[in-house]
Amino acid sequence: EKGGYDHFMLKEIHEQPKAIIDTYRGRMLADEGIIRMAGIDDNMNKFLNAERIIIVACGTSWHAGLVGEYLIEDKARIPVEVEYASEFRYRNPIITSKDVVIAISQSGETADTLAAIKLAKSKGAFVFGICNVVGSSIARETDAGAYTHAGPEIGVASTKAFTTQITVLTLIALKLASKKGEISKPKLRAFLQEMQMIPKKVEDLLKIDDKVKEIAAVYKDAPNCLYLGRGFNFPVALEGALKLKEISYIHAEGYPAAEMKHGPIALIDENMPIFVIATNKGHYEKVVSNIQEIKSRAGKIIAIVTEGDTQVKEIADHVIEIPETEEALSPLLTTIPFQLLSYHIAVMLGKNVDQPRNLAKSVTVE
Ligand code: F6R
Repeated sequence: EKGGYDHFMLKEIHEQPKAIIDTYRGRMLADEGIIRMAGIDDNMNKFLNAERIIIVACGTSWHAGLVGEYLIEDKARIPVEVEYASEFRYRNPIITSKDVVIAISQSGETADTLAAIKLAKSKGAFVFGICNVVGSSIARETDAGAYTHAGPEIGVASTKAFTTQITVLTLIALKLASKKGEISKPKLRAFLQEMQMIPKKVEDLLKIDDKVKEIAAVYKDAPNCLYLGRGFNFPVALEGALKLKEISYIHAEGYPAAEMKHGPIALIDENMPIFVIATNKGHYEKVVSNIQEIKSRAGKIIAIVTEGDTQVKEIADHVIEIPETEEALSPLLTTIPFQLLSYHIAVMLGKNVDQPRNLAKSVTVE
């Protein structure tokens, strides 16, 4: 049932190329620059007239929501807020019939997310769901939605759910952008054609497993780790840290790279591994200077860079290369090495990878 893999998590990491294809299949015609999503098409006016979109979710799904915020604001120019479902539901939020709420949940059973949906509906908002489990409570409770077609996710640490959630959010952002005239047809076509290359690029990235394993062996005994990223890859830093915490029980924090100097930099010494996403687009030079700041404090730098990078390679202790892609699509690639890294560290430490202590696959209590 684990398809020859030692753990469900590893199997699910490797299923991502197919899961991403299954998620966009039938929804995009790349060469024609067309995106079809019934849940969006049928409710287009709700989205186009929305004063803002509020994304609610928990955990990894919340991280996907943050990527969604960057995508929707950048591409479709609609204001987006992302909120933890648990905070949203208890803070007496201002919400009206002019708001569109997108709820994201792999299991479709998360109690806080479900309660947030009910609250939003009671205030008259239109609620759109992004779920993986067909027929789940959240899928039923929402007004419309789009499923991720990741297939069953058994490992408690979410992997393919995350990348397929981002896939759906990318399609939504582009669909809205194209409807609003924010993206030209040729640009949309080029973007979708690049999106079609992502599964193959993920596949290629999965082959760097041995290199990630080597890095895991070097840092597996670290008591603390820091993950840094900017822009589209800031949420990937948060997700990288969450994955490590969950299954290896190593304390890790994700931060926007530029925030480091406002506090976490005090933690840096020669014992602190810092995982930095430094891909070639989007604030590259700024991230390079963040890396220099770490280096001058003797921190250990493990950088995710774009193939062919030379600048970061000179300063970092280790680099992991990812294939070139559109900046907005890069989270689908940069997240892969972090998933593998957490997996290998947890295995090396003898932890229960698929069923980490204190965690359940769906959190149906608040
Ligand atoms: C992370 C993880 C949790 C879930 C969170 C939300 O690996 O498993 O953080 O992402 O409990 O779950 P869903 O997406 O089912 O609502």
